[in-house]
Amino acid sequence: MTDPRELERLAIDAATRAGDHLRDHRPRRVEVVATKSSDVDIVTAMDRAAEEMIVEYLLAARPGDGVFGEEGHSRTSQSGITWVIDPIDGTVNYLYALDDYGVSIAAVEGDPDPLTWTPLAACVHNPPRRLSYHAAAGHGAFADDRPLRGPTSTGLSGALVATGFGYRAERRTRQAEIVTALLGEVRDIRRLGAASLDLCLVGDGRLDAYYERGLSPWDHAAGALIAREAGALVTGPDGGPADAEMTVAAGVPLHGELLARLAELDAFSGY
Ligand code: IPD
Repeated sequence: MTDPRELERLAIDAATRAGDHLRDHRPRRVEVVATKSSDVDIVTAMDRAAEEMIVEYLLAARPGDGVFGEEGHSRTSQSGITWVIDPIDGTVNYLYALDDYGVSIAAVEGDPDPLTWTPLAACVHNPPRRLSYHAAAGHGAFADDRPLRGPTSTGLSGALVATGFGYRAERRTRQAEIVTALLGEVRDIRRLGAASLDLCLVGDGRLDAYYERGLSPWDHAAGALIAREAGALVTGPDGGPADAEMTVAAGVPLHGELLARLAELDAFSGY
């Protein structure tokens, strides 16, 4: 049996090392080396370098583990543990020298599939603030050494709600309609640009809720465990695990209120 706290320590070390590199060696002009789902869905040379560093570090410590990384590293696990990695979550913020980006690393047990995996440990490191959000399953969540207390209780009308937008125009158009409807019903909306940090901020009680359609596994793997260990509820559309259809994070009962409103707005399919 692997102690989740050992995996948590490794995740913190790997994320901090990569984060130091991203912050301290950020070129004045960050080079976009590829695009993915659309012209604005970018990959920088720094995304690739950071993923390389993280994988090398983790596999040196645990050679039998698997890897599932946003920038293409993929390795089947022999130990049962797989590292789910987003080397820069919030790449567009990084490109524009905005501070809201994170190095997101989670250790999960089972196949690298959010519908079936069991998250064991996680770190989301925010290099500009030199801050690590981290958690081990069953052991709570922290911002560096400070325990996270989870979201405070509020109804939808008093809630500060974060969301995000995908990279394809058709998806964004529909996401804009949904957020337009919500805007008149909540305290306010935030779009920070890094899903992993949005989830940690819900765990930290600095956002009341977060929802987004279309996340990839590496966008939410670490942040979801951290938010959950802090006391938030994080689910997909039907109350099961968060997935590409929808990720909703909030305290109870706001989570149920938001999920029901999103269902009314037909937010779970078709875009
Ligand atoms: C993106 C960010 C963004 C979210 C997008 C993600 P990336 O991740 O988390 O906040 O709205 O859906 O794809 O591309 O910066 O790794």
